[in-house]
Amino acid sequence: MLEIKKELTTNPKEKPAVDQLGFGQFFTDHMFIVDYTEGMGWHDPRIIPYQPLSIDPSAMVFHYGQAVFEGLKAYATVDNGVLLFRPDRNFNRLNHSNERIVIPAIDEELALEALKQLVTLDREWVPTAPGTSLYIRPFIIATEPHLGVHPSNSYQFIIIMSPSGSYYKEGINPVKIMVEQHFVRAVVGGTGEAKTAGNYASALKGQEIAHKEGYSQTLWLDGKEHRYIEEVGSMNIFFKINGTVITPALNGSILPGITRDSMLHVLKAKNIPVEERRISIDEVVEAYHNGTLEEAFGTGTAAVISPVGELKWRDEKILINNGEIGEISQMLYDTLTGIQNGTLEDSFGWTIKL
Ligand SMILES: Cc1ncc(COP(=O)(O)O)c(C=O)c1O
Repeated sequence: MLEIKKELTTNPKEKPAVDQLGFGQFFTDHMFIVDYTEGMGWHDPRIIPYQPLSIDPSAMVFHYGQAVFEGLKAYATVDNGVLLFRPDRNFNRLNHSNERIVIPAIDEELALEALKQLVTLDREWVPTAPGTSLYIRPFIIATEPHLGVHPSNSYQFIIIMSPSGSYYKEGINPVKIMVEQHFVRAVVGGTGEAKTAGNYASALKGQEIAHKEGYSQTLWLDGKEHRYIEEVGSMNIFFKINGTVITPALNGSILPGITRDSMLHVLKAKNIPVEERRISIDEVVEAYHNGTLEEAFGTGTAAVISPVGELKWRDEKILINNGEIGEISQMLYDTLTGIQNGTLEDSFGWTIKL
């Protein structure tokens, strides 16, 4: 294991008040960096004061988008501990993303060790109010100063952290989501199942259209037939139809969400019928019309669960469960957040206590 050098800040920042936190606005005192140079591999892992990067304007990340990232959280527990939730899965997914856009693999064990040391060092930044957490953003960028399309010969892998406020300040609010008819997020064979920066840039247009119409996110359909449901902007999607919970199977163009995987485990453990398969928008609309569409919810690190109160498809507004959170959504939310804040036993072995 490479040794991680530490340079501590001499100028600790003032921590924001809990009601100002929001999301992704404030950053902790320290960050982790490790460099990659062709011929040397990953080297010089270090924790340093949070600071701007100095990068050549010709660095390949700015031109050809060779960038991958992750998102996970550290949670304060009721007994003053700090828990990480399935961080090994995030570093594993980062390596899958790396593989897809030809970034050299990171050492997942080193990354986890670095993360533990970084969170421990900035532990005071983990907010403790109910629903708050420390959002963690690992990312890798191509730094070779060169114009010309080829894989970069140098990279930086960086971890930054941001205290984040409660997603649900006034109870869980179902979201309104617009099903996108024209634009697509990803196609099988593309980069949809990797967490690359470009996927998010290509999704902005659909998101802008949805926002203009008063919807908070886009539900993407498959890129070929525009029929099969894929996922939401930053969440995987589930439907409960006639007692069975259905989520689109991982087909190569959907991000394999870690929350999605956790929900599937919880559902199976509770003997709730669950299916991972292709599901078309027509099937959802039909279930709505015949009264069997019982719940819909998105899953992701940011909100854990976002119940869907309304789906807009073409000219039709599909109102789900009277715009209220459903029974299964509530159970899944309570189970996962209970494991994350240490009030429920972690029978799956998902958390790491620092
Ligand atoms: C496109 C997309 N789908 C799904 C998810 C949910 O993934 P996870 O549960 O790992 O946060 C995210 C968030 O990372 C995302 O960006």
